Amino acid sequence: MDRIELIQNIFQKTDFENYLEIGCRKGKSFLPIRAKNKVAVDPVFKIAISRRLKWLMKWPANFQADYFQLESDVFFETQKDYLQNLGPLDVVLIDGLHNFRASLHDVLHSLTYLNDEGLIILHDCYPPHEAAAVYADVFPTEEQQQQLKGWTGEWCGDVWKTISYLMGKYPDLLDVGVINTDYGLGYVRFKTTPLSRKFEVDEDLFVKVDQLTYKELKSDPEKIINLEPASFSDTVLSWY
Ligand SMILES: C[S@@+](CC[C@H](N)C(=O)[O-])C[C@H]1O[C@@H](n2cnc3c(N)ncnc32)[C@H](O)[C@@H]1O
Repeated sequence: MDRIELIQNIFQKTDFENYLEIGCRKGKSFLPIRAKNKVAVDPVFKIAISRRLKWLMKWPANFQADYFQLESDVFFETQKDYLQNLGPLDVVLIDGLHNFRASLHDVLHSLTYLNDEGLIILHDCYPPHEAAAVYADVFPTEEQQQQLKGWTGEWCGDVWKTISYLMGKYPDLLDVGVINTDYGLGYVRFKTTPLSRKFEVDEDLFVKVDQLTYKELKSDPEKIINLEPASFSDTVLSWY
């Protein structure tokens, strides 16, 4: 099951209404999701008119979808009223800038608005090889790509460290892990209602987690990111 099917199934099984996608690019995952209220955030949308029209016909709620052409940090900083008015986020897909700090910010910001029963999915949490796990501030440049042994055009970055960080920081508050499918689908949900909705980066823990290497991840993924088999998607669906 890939991210689109998993998210779609959750909307089908629940009365959830609000879907946020951070990092939308061509709308491949955003447009097919059949949620009532859809919000997309990306500094560079590349949605072809033909794809947009196709999905307007297939799912008319796409007419009311809101698009924010912004970096996600700027979105959360400037759109607080919008998010309050929207109501709790039911499902969030985080697929924006593929590095530890950016994805951690995306999760912490999303947790501020997440429905107590809601779910965050992070794409690209289990890179298929070391070249795909390289750290970069933006998609690796051609120069970086040429220097990377084994580069295949796939880039997950070090988003997986966000899972490790959350496991270490919030063992009682959050249920966190990665499903071994679709480049690793990270999942985050509340185990219990949070006492506060203020989530800030613990810089000491950040530095510690940032020192983990891809080799360490591969040597014990169950311990480092709580890796679950692909069949765990069914367990996730059974929560709803
Ligand atoms: C892998 S693509 C998203 C693919 C899409 N979710 C899908 O499944 O079809 C990553 C996107 O993240 C966007 N992005 C890069 N930096 C970002 C940021 N700071 N905030 C939000 N999106 C960002 C890029 O412009 C790009 O379109």
